[in-house]
Amino acid sequence: MSDGLSHNMTALETEGARALPAAKDVAQRFEVQPHPAPASEEAWAKAMDDLSFGAAYSDHMARAIWTRGQGWHSKQVVPFGPLTLSPAAAVLHYGQEIFEGMKAYRHDDGSIWTFRPGYNAARFNASARRMCMPQMEVDDFVGAISALVTEDAKWVPTPFGSSLYLRPVMFASEAFLGVHAAAEYTFLTIATPVGLYFKDGLSPVSIWVSDGFHRAGPGGTGAAKTGGNYAGALLPQEEAADAGFDQVCFLDARENQYLEELGGMNVFVVRSDGSVRTPSLTGTILEGSTRSAIIRLLRDRGTPVFEERIRLADLVEDIKRGEVIEMFACGTAAVVTPIGRLASKDFDLEIPGSALTLSIYNQLVGIQNGHEPDPYHWLYRLV
Ligand code: COI
Repeated sequence: MSDGLSHNMTALETEGARALPAAKDVAQRFEVQPHPAPASEEAWAKAMDDLSFGAAYSDHMARAIWTRGQGWHSKQVVPFGPLTLSPAAAVLHYGQEIFEGMKAYRHDDGSIWTFRPGYNAARFNASARRMCMPQMEVDDFVGAISALVTEDAKWVPTPFGSSLYLRPVMFASEAFLGVHAAAEYTFLTIATPVGLYFKDGLSPVSIWVSDGFHRAGPGGTGAAKTGGNYAGALLPQEEAADAGFDQVCFLDARENQYLEELGGMNVFVVRSDGSVRTPSLTGTILEGSTRSAIIRLLRDRGTPVFEERIRLADLVEDIKRGEVIEMFACGTAAVVTPIGRLASKDFDLEIPGSALTLSIYNQLVGIQNGHEPDPYHWLYRLV
């Protein structure tokens, strides 16, 4: 039985930990076409002041095309702008699409870093395999990020806790209506300067446990970061919002009993004995980079973390008995968010604590911003 402290690296963690070439070397794989009319100083200053998620985009985007028989080509950094896409493009009909979420952080000395890009590259390729799409060389994936952030360095905000959110995406751009893997794909990376994901910052969110909707089933695409998983979560999310809740939590599809994830975030439970639990990777939830980092940080603090199936009925009893004292959600965009209320049609419970949640948030954001030691070499210098 696991002691909660020993750490066996997952395939993504192992692949993601491989040493990468310097950013300036991989950036050269992308030819830069500078924007002829970049954002005005005024528009840039407004974006850097607002920092709400996805409100404004940097001047450029990275782009590459994959064509059957030719592989990846046309690797460029081009002006950010609308795409030309055939109405018959396969992604519009069959949803062959994957994406990633990453961030670039400005450190106090002005240098710019990202967090575990090899992990994101490995997960991008794992998603690609599941969605029958071409994989990308890790050096191309990291090269796209490096070239884009080098070109748009002024878009990386300065305030602690802010960052330039990076969104790599790949979709089937072949114009063809037959149901088969496409013969052409487009890869893009776009960037948006962001502050805190939730408008109320680190104040606790309320969670509605979905009744009847499931995010993913056994053998499905739940472990892939593909748009359809998120589209399917929108209606349950709206139901939760209509009931006055911030986010929705899904249970497993097979037994409708075990906690899975929030759709865009993984979930953790903190017990009064000091141990922590998070749903195990059963193939139906996303293996979050933030989830992985938190497990590692907690275990190395001496906090046992158990990756296991968490039965909702047991969780409810444990919250009532005071044996569960905190819950939190995590993801790249939101980082770490305390959960202050958990409810369904059968119960409505307050979860008052947030001490461990806030301390892990501070440690993680501290590492990402260069204020805390990075013994795992998770940071990668971009500029
Ligand atoms: C992220 O946390 O970066 C994600 O990709 C989740 C997204 C739904 C905001």
